[in-house]
Amino acid sequence: MKGAGLLWLLLFLLCGNRCRSSQILLIFPHASESHFAVMRTLVNELVDRQHNVTVYGSHGLGERLENVTEIVSSEFAYWTKLQQHAVPGGNLEDLSRLADSKLRSSLAHVGAQALDHFLTQSPMQTLLQLPTEQFNFDVIIVDLFYTEALLALGQKHNKPIIGIISTDFGSYMDAVQESLVPSACSPIDFEQYAADIGFTTRLGNIRECIARRKRFHKDHYTAQDQLIRKHFKTTKTVVELQAHHLSLLLLNNHVPLLTPRPLLQQIVPAGGLHIRGPRELPWNIKRFVEESRPGIIYMQLGNEQLCGQLPKQKLQTLFEFLGARKERVIWTCHDVKQLKGLPKNVMIQHAVPQIDILAHPRVRAFIMNGDLLSLQEGIVRHVPMLGLPIFQNERRNMQLAVNLGVALQLDSTNFTNAALNWALDELTTQQKYQLTIREVSSEFRDRPLGAVASAMFWVNYMVRHKSGAAIRTRGIDIASNQLHLFDLFIFYFGVAVVFCAVLLGGYFAVVYALQRKQNNAKFSKLS
Ligand SMILES: *[C@@H]1O[C@H](CO)[C@@H](O)[C@H](O)[C@H]1NC(C)=O
Ligand SMILES: *[C@@H]1O[C@H](CO)[C@@H](O)[C@H](O)[C@H]1NC(C)=O
Ligand SMILES: *[C@@H]1O[C@H](CO)[C@@H](O)[C@H](O)[C@H]1NC(C)=O
Repeated sequence: MKGAGLLWLLLFLLCGNRCRSSQILLIFPHASESHFAVMRTLVNELVDRQHNVTVYGSHGLGERLENVTEIVSSEFAYWTKLQQHAVPGGNLEDLSRLADSKLRSSLAHVGAQALDHFLTQSPMQTLLQLPTEQFNFDVIIVDLFYTEALLALGQKHNKPIIGIISTDFGSYMDAVQESLVPSACSPIDFEQYAADIGFTTRLGNIRECIARRKRFHKDHYTAQDQLIRKHFKTTKTVVELQAHHLSLLLLNNHVPLLTPRPLLQQIVPAGGLHIRGPRELPWNIKRFVEESRPGIIYMQLGNEQLCGQLPKQKLQTLFEFLGARKERVIWTCHDVKQLKGLPKNVMIQHAVPQIDILAHPRVRAFIMNGDLLSLQEGIVRHVPMLGLPIFQNERRNMQLAVNLGVALQLDSTNFTNAALNWALDELTTQQKYQLTIREVSSEFRDRPLGAVASAMFWVNYMVRHKSGAAIRTRGIDIASNQLHLFDLFIFYFGVAVVFCAVLLGGYFAVVYALQRKQNNAKFSKLS
């Protein structure tokens, strides 16, 4: 009761009488669990603040809420299609071994297919055909992950549109930031910062960044531009839409999981957007957890790794390892409810948000793949993590967590019973992980406005100021050669060359004149 009162007081202080009910449209085309976690929290929070919310997604909210209209489209088998496109006939391991640039190009291709599939379905078509008089939403929020074509909806009806970037798969977040912040292509590598880097490193960094930006435009924006022409009947391009119609970009990340770098006012780091207060566990899971005196290990291997498709060898090792532990194990699988040969101390569940499970004090370790959002959840809930990453970005996230002292990681060569046991014992028995994770968590959460409150502030800001044009960057379409002053350098080089030429010319003219004078003097002496 007291908590609720405080919450209302806080709400009142935060928005006074400026919070009013608005019509908010959310579009979440992606079929991946981590995107839904963000969507569910946002919908709940928006409704709590008296907004009327309409959600178009490819997955249900899983609960009925007042003032929420939910339209669920059929799912697109993203991971299967991605594997088919990138490594025909190959498996997840093959996909993970793909070069970064190849993976990004496949993501762009399959991402456009997924969005096309989403936009072609009849509920979405109805929305797209709405004339502006009937399109009575105040703000549009879209999940940006190879879905930039959706920005055309805001442009069509002249409504503010907020993008959420909630994943860094294939460095998508970096690439979008790079195309929004002209100065993001920097000779300094923000991920692996070193103070004294040489000329060749700087040259390499900037060349790599500019090349990546070019490829991103060529592979991804071209595909999205086609979708814009097909579904929105306009010749606007993604670059134009980002420059003139994207009102705000919410980044689902924050220091210390994010390296500080140049940001625009329009880009708001709101890491932990999906993390809400914990809720009571369903009775069966609660009993399973509370009956386990030695504690619980929670496992979730990521959106891309379906439990039913784990390689036999890996599954066998996991069963042997988990079956011999004294703790009980909760394993979240979204594709299967049962696996053959599952040890008795392991429970497969698929319906409870992991944020609630991780909140239980009995949970002692989290076995994960290195997904950025799961990592944030582990940190906020103070559960040390054991990472079994597959992809490059997951290894990068995991390495960051290891450096922060809140996790251990094993690569595929170390996927053995002994190594897994060693790592888990280390995490559950060494006090230092518990102590460090509390510090890291407090650093992650320590900001003027929490992630959700910050997102809510900016949604309301857009409602109040219609387009948010005041905070929009002006520099998006500056060409990189202009931005990095290449043309200025050439100009000054030219000036320097002309100056030197004039000096040299003057010198030679004087020498010549003197010589002539001397010669004349000699000549007159002789004659
Ligand atoms: C639903 O919206 C109506 C009208 O805006 C409002 O009066 C009511 O309190 C809302 N319900 C909830 C649960 O927020
Ligand atoms: C909420 O939104 C839905 C869908 O757009 C609409 O039908 C309904 O009338 C709205 N309710 C209120 C109270 O504005
Ligand atoms: C991982 O494997 C390498 C050799 O393959 C070994 O040197 C290292 O100690 C192993 N790490 C763990 C944690 O078992």
